[in-house]
Amino acid sequence: MSLSDSDKIAIKTVLQKMDWYEHLQPMELTSLLAGFEKANMVKDEVMITEGKTGEIFYIIDSGSVGVFLKRKLVDKLVATLGPGEFFGEMSLISDEPRSATVVCQEDGVVFTLLRSTFRKVLMSNPVIGDMVRKIAASRRSDDRAIEFSEWMGKGLK
Ligand code: CMP
Repeated sequence: MSLSDSDKIAIKTVLQKMDWYEHLQPMELTSLLAGFEKANMVKDEVMITEGKTGEIFYIIDSGSVGVFLKRKLVDKLVATLGPGEFFGEMSLISDEPRSATVVCQEDGVVFTLLRSTFRKVLMSNPVIGDMVRKIAASRRSDDRAIEFSEWMGKGLK
């Protein structure tokens, strides 16, 4: 469903707070506003499941989510994300399965983009594409460092 005028104002307000807003061309902003959908999220709702195929990119308008790496017994919380932050970019960039499970921690609203618009508009903008790729790479390296330290800890026990 396309966004109402007040939703468009809300998504513009979120985008304006993000580092890449100033690099968006007017045509790109128009394409984004036409492509974004709005969804409510409720506490404990699983937004993304590790290992599944990724199709959607999310920007948090309100509320928060926890990012968990799968463990045999208890999943490990690696990050908490809130308003103005995004998730779901890694698998859309790499074409690999979802790298983590993302669960709503506090009720809120997310704006979502399909993979095709994410790639065509955001990733095709050289500056924004670079910014998103850098964040994805830094998250991946954090996850690997956590995996490695856990593995070392187990090995030393
Ligand atoms: P994706 O792999 O598509 O799906 C899971 C998402 O969790 C991932 O994209 C990132 O958006 C997010 N994610 C994974 N690891 C981290 C991390 N260390 N910090 C913040 N977000 C992460």
